[in-house]
Amino acid sequence: MGALSPPVAAPEQEHAARVASLRRLLHPASVAVIGASRDPESIGHRILRNLLDGGFAGDVHPINPRVSHVLERPAYPDIDAVPGPVDLAVVVTPAATVCEVARSCASRGVAGLVVITAGFAETGPEGAEREARLRDICRAAGMRLVGPNCLGLADTGSGVNATFLPHPPLPGPLGVMSQSGALGVALVERARVLGLGLSTFVSVGNKADVSGNDLLEYWEDDPATDLIAFYLESFGDPVRFADLARRVGARKPVIALKSGRSRAGDRAVRSHTAAAATPDVAVDALLRGCGVIRVESMQDLLDTARLLATQPLPRGSRVAIVGNSGGPGALAADACERAGLTVPELSTGTQRLVRDGLRAPLRPVAAVANPIDLTADGDAVDLAHAMTTVLADPAVDTLLVVYTPRSEPGDAVARLAIAEVAATTSKTVLACLVGHDGMVEASPVPAYAFPEQAARALRHAVDYARWRAGSAPAEPAGWRAEVAPPWADVERARGIIRRHLADAGPEWLDPATAADLLGCYGVNVARSVTVHSEEAAAAAAAEVGLPTALKATGPALVHKSDVGGVRLDLSTPDRVADNYRELAASLGPRMTGAVVQRMAGSGVEMIVGAVRHRAFGPLVMVGMGGVAADLLADRTFRVPPITTREAAAMVAELRCSPLLSGYRGSPVVDSASLFEQVVRVGRMVRDLPEVAELDLNPVIVTGDGAVTVDARIRLAIPTAS
Ligand SMILES: Nc1ncnc2c1ncn2[C@@H]1O[C@H](COP(=O)(O)OP(=O)(O)OP(=O)(O)O)[C@@H](O)[C@H]1O
Ligand SMILES: [Mg+2]
Repeated sequence: MGALSPPVAAPEQEHAARVASLRRLLHPASVAVIGASRDPESIGHRILRNLLDGGFAGDVHPINPRVSHVLERPAYPDIDAVPGPVDLAVVVTPAATVCEVARSCASRGVAGLVVITAGFAETGPEGAEREARLRDICRAAGMRLVGPNCLGLADTGSGVNATFLPHPPLPGPLGVMSQSGALGVALVERARVLGLGLSTFVSVGNKADVSGNDLLEYWEDDPATDLIAFYLESFGDPVRFADLARRVGARKPVIALKSGRSRAGDRAVRSHTAAAATPDVAVDALLRGCGVIRVESMQDLLDTARLLATQPLPRGSRVAIVGNSGGPGALAADACERAGLTVPELSTGTQRLVRDGLRAPLRPVAAVANPIDLTADGDAVDLAHAMTTVLADPAVDTLLVVYTPRSEPGDAVARLAIAEVAATTSKTVLACLVGHDGMVEASPVPAYAFPEQAARALRHAVDYARWRAGSAPAEPAGWRAEVAPPWADVERARGIIRRHLADAGPEWLDPATAADLLGCYGVNVARSVTVHSEEAAAAAAAEVGLPTALKATGPALVHKSDVGGVRLDLSTPDRVADNYRELAASLGPRMTGAVVQRMAGSGVEMIVGAVRHRAFGPLVMVGMGGVAADLLADRTFRVPPITTREAAAMVAELRCSPLLSGYRGSPVVDSASLFEQVVRVGRMVRDLPEVAELDLNPVIVTGDGAVTVDARIRLAIPTAS
C-alpha cells in the first residue's frame, strides 16, 4: 500500500475514473504484446496477428528479446525499449515472469495489463500468492489488470482485438463478459455465426482486478453498447452488482448466465428463512430483483440477446402466430403458453380481414384464429398480408412468424417479405425459420430454428420490459414516497446490538430484545411481556390485553409448537396462570419463562425473513407463513433495498397471494401493511450487518394491519469481506 491515502472522491468522480481507466484499455492508442512469438501456433503470435488484422489504427509493438521482427514488425527486447507511450500491454510470458513484467510496465507508465498467462489463483496457494503480488503491483501503480488466466479483450469500435479468438467478433451492440475462456470463445463464435454483433468482449479470467462490476459501469456509459451479457461463475461483490445492474438495467438489458457450482451451506440453520436460502435461490433473488435476465443456457443467452439487440421491447405478453404449416404453428403456440405468454384467439374482425385479403380467398385455409396457418400454398404475398393484418390488431403485442422452408427462390422472397413487414411496425417481430438459426435476411428480425427458442427468448423480453416499466423514473404518483427509506432509529438499534454482543455474545436474541430491535425499524410486533412465574403471567395478561397467547421460552426451545409450548386465546388472567403451570410442568427445565402476548385478530399468516448469505450478502424473503411454512415452501427472495413496489411484486409471485385479496369469500386484508413490513426488514438487514438470520413467522395480516407474533433473530459478528 502506498503511504499517501488518495483524496476522497465523490461517487460520480469514482465512476468517471473507473470508466476512463477501462476506456484506455478498450480504446488504446498503442498496444504492446509482451511475449510475441514467431511460432504461428503460439498464443503470443496469434494475439499479435489478431491485433494487426483487426483494423486497429494505433501502434502495435511486439516485445521479444530473442528476435528482431515478428510478423514484419520490429520487436523490442523489453517494454522500456518501446518508443512513445504504451496504453495496453498484453502479457503472455510464463507465470513466473509476470510480476517482473508488470513491474517494468508500471515504471514505464503503461495504463493497463491484460494477463493471458495461467498459473495463478486457479492452481492453488502458490499461484494465489503470485496473483496477490501481481494485483498489488498494479494497484500501487494505478494500472488496471484484466485476468490473469484469461483470453483477452476486444472492442469492435476501436478495432482492438487483443485475444486469441479464431475469428474477430462482428461489430454490434452487445457487451460480453465471460469468466470462462472456453465459454467465451464459444459465445463469440456462435454470436458471429448467428449474426449477433458485439461492442466489446472481455474475458476476465481470475478477476484479480477488472470485474463484472467495473464493466457494468463502463457499458453504462458506452454509447456503442445497448445490451450486456455475462457468463458468471462467481460474484465478487454481489450487493454492488445488484445496485449497479438495477441502475444500468433501467436503460440497457443485462443478461446473465450463472453456473451454480456452489454447494449448499453445511451449517445447521434454525430459521425457516436460512433453511430456504440455498445458493441458487440467492443468485435468483439477486438477479431477479435488479431486473437482470437470468438465462439457463448459452443458447438461451444468444437467443435472448438477438431479440433484445434488434427488436423493440414487447408491450405485453400477447402473441400472434402466423405460419405456413400446422405442426410448427401448434408447437409454437404450446411453447408460448408454456413460457407464460398468451396466444389469444384473434377477433372475428381480424380473422375476417386475414381471410378476405388472401390471394386466393376461396382456397381452404387451415386456421385464422391464432395460430394462423396459411398452409403450404401460402406465398410471400399472403404471408405479408397476414402479418400486416395481425400487427394492426391492438390486441396483439408480438408477432411470431413460423415459416417452414419449402424451396428456393420462394423461400427467399418469403424471408424478404418478413423483413419488410417487420420494418413497418413498432411491435416486436421474431421468426422461427424452422431448422435455421440466425437473422432473417440480414434484417433486424431474429430467426430461431425451433419455436421453443423463440418462446423462451420472448418470455425473457416480456419479463424485462415489465420490470423496466416498473422501475422507470417516470413512475405513477403515489409510488414516489418510497424512494426515501422508511423511518428507523438506527442508533438505538446499534446500541441494542452492541449491548447484546457485549453481554451475551452472538447468537439468538431473547423475544423481548428481538421485539425491541424490530421496534427500532417500525416493524409491528404484538404487545408482549416476558414473565417467569404464573403470577407474573396473570398480571401481564391484564397488561397486554385479553385474550392472550402464552408461549414457553428457553434457549433450547426453537420451534415452540413442536413441543406443545404455544397456548392460544386465553380469555382470563386465571386461565393464563393455569396454562403457565401446565407448560412448566410438561417442559421442565427447558422452559425458563414465557411470553404473554396479545392475540392478533384473525387473518392470513405470512412469513417475512432475512438471512445474510456468505457470498451474496443480505436476502429478504416473504412467503406463506405459520406452522406449515416449510411444508408448502411458497416463498420468494430478493436482495435489499426493497421498495414498496418490489415488496408487492414479491407477494404477487406467491401461490398464496390470492388469500390476501379475499379468496373464496374470505375477507380482504391489508396487504399494504405487509409490504411495509417487508420494506422495513430489508432496511434493517442492510443497515445492521450483525443481523445474520431473522424470521417473523407468522406475520398475521388482518383487515387493518400486519402484526408479527413470533420473531426470531440471530446475531453474528460480521466477517470482513
Ligand atoms: N399472538 C397471537 N395471535 C394469534 N395467533 C397466534 C399468536 N401467537 C401465535 N399464534 C398462532 O400460533 C402459531 C404458532 O405460534 P408461534 O409462531 O409463536 O410458534 P412457533 O412454534 O415458534 O412456530 P414456528 O417455529 O413454526 O415459527 C402461529 O402460527 C399462529 O397461528
Ligand atoms: Mg413461529
